[in-house]
Formats: sequence, structure tokens, C-alpha cells
Amino acid sequence: MNSSSELLNFIRPICLEAGKILNKSFGEIQYIKDKSTAIDLCTNADIESERFITKSILKKYPTHSIVAEEGSDNKTKSDYKWVIDPLDGTTNYVHNLPIFSVSIGLQYKNETILGIVYNPAADKLFYATKNEGAFLNNEPIKTSSSKALSECILATGFPYTHDKYYDASFSIFKDFYDKTQGLRRLGVASLDLCFVAMGRFDGFYEFNLKPWDVCAGAIIASEAGAICSDWNNSLIPFSGSRILCSNPYIHKEMLTVLNNKKYSLFYDLK
Ligand code: IPD
Ligand code: CA
Ligand code: CA
Repeated sequence: MNSSSELLNFIRPICLEAGKILNKSFGEIQYIKDKSTAIDLCTNADIESERFITKSILKKYPTHSIVAEEGSDNKTKSDYKWVIDPLDGTTNYVHNLPIFSVSIGLQYKNETILGIVYNPAADKLFYATKNEGAFLNNEPIKTSSSKALSECILATGFPYTHDKYYDASFSIFKDFYDKTQGLRRLGVASLDLCFVAMGRFDGFYEFNLKPWDVCAGAIIASEAGAICSDWNNSLIPFSGSRILCSNPYIHKEMLTVLNNKKYSLFYDLK
């Protein structure tokens, strides 16, 4: 087995280079296509970043498995699985908002052992390896210490599909809005999680995300002291269907809101 620090040293320059690819095209989008819906976008930069990352990984580790958002998957029987969002926050990117990231997680035997998230526009690099803490630009980070929702600011997001979960998702938003100092919707799940890790947000919840939205950010937040779980306090599903991540003090209070019977429909998401 490769050591986590060896794997981190390998992936860090690749992640930074992918960020450069995104920065290069920022403000000059050449190609946009719709994916699941007309508001689910994909740009030339998503594709270029993903090709660069997957090619670089496979050059060094040809047998490793890859799950990547824009489809450059490598399905193998390897114990290692890279989980890649080459551009998280595409809608921001398309609208020239410099809030987007490259997000890369690594699992070994289905357990996340490393996460790296880079916000190239601000040159902020977040990373963590299992049991070794979380860092932002080489400085250790930790979660906030707010003890009650009434002292907190939270983050969330909404999926591109406006379906049977739509009304309930706004009801949850309202529940938290009534209990906190406010909620923010950045449009970049990986950075939402990193902002919980560094204590900028006290908590984050979302549903209908994908593995590449949460894999890296969740280990960074956990290593910074956050609790990451499903909405009923079981393990976060790899799928990203539901996630709750907060500082350790408010996790229970957030669970009480999300674990309400009226939100049981969200468990239809596998
Ligand atoms: C999206 C972002 C956003 C979340 C969406 C995701 P993308 O990823 O993470 O915060 O609310 O559900 O799909 O499409 O920009 O990679
Ligand atoms: Ca994403
Ligand atoms: Ca993406």
C-alpha cells in the first residue's frame, strides 16, 4: 500500500495544474453543453481539467480505479478509487463568479483516505489525509466552536432537477432559516465543506449530490473536527444522496431538523 503522504505529494501538483487550466479559461467560456437539464452545464474547461487529471493519474497508476463527473471513468478491481470533480461550481464559473474548485478524493478499500480541494481563483488549497488533520495552504484548520444554531451561519445547495423534493427542500431551508443567523448557497459543495472545515460556516447540509461533490470535502471537514453523517446520523452514503456536516456542537440540533418524519421522502434517494 502506498502511504497517504506519498499519494498526497503525487496529487497536489496535478490538482494545482488543473486549477491553472480552469483559471486560463475563466471569463472566456468557449463551449457549453447541457447535461441532465438546461441548467446543468458543462464547459470546455470541465472536460480539459478532467482529461488532464485522469491522464496524469493513469500515467503513474494505470490500474487504479477512477470515478469522474464528466465520464473519464476507469473501472478496475483496484483497491484504490479516485473520485474527481474537475470543476465544482460550473454555474458560478460560467457566470464569471470566482467561486469554483477542483475536487479530488481517494478511497482505499471504500474508505476515503485523502481529499484535496483547490479554489484556483483565490489560490486556496485545502487538503487532508486520514488521521493526519486538515490544512489550508499548509496551515492546520479546524471547525468553529459555536454551540447553538442561534449563533450559526449554515450553507446548503439545491439540485438541478426540480422534482418531488423541491417543496420539501425549501421547507428545510425555512426550518433552518428560522433557527440560525442565516444560510448561504455558494453553488460549490466541495467548498461548502471546506468552509465548514475552516470554521467559516458552522454547518452544511444538502441532498442529491454526487460522490465527486462530497468525497474530498468530507474527509477535509472530518479531519478538521467536523461530524459528517447522513441525515439520520448513519454513515454518509458514498452516492452523496444526503449529507450533513457541522462542527461537533450543533450536529445534534441539525439532525433534529433533518431527521424529521416529514423529510422521510429524501430516503428514496439511494
Ligand atoms: C454542483 C455544486 C453545487 C450543488 C450541485 C452540484 P457542479 O456541482 O456542487 O453546489 O448544489 O448540486 O451539482 O455541477 O458545479 O459540478
Ligand atoms: Ca460538483
Ligand atoms: Ca463539476
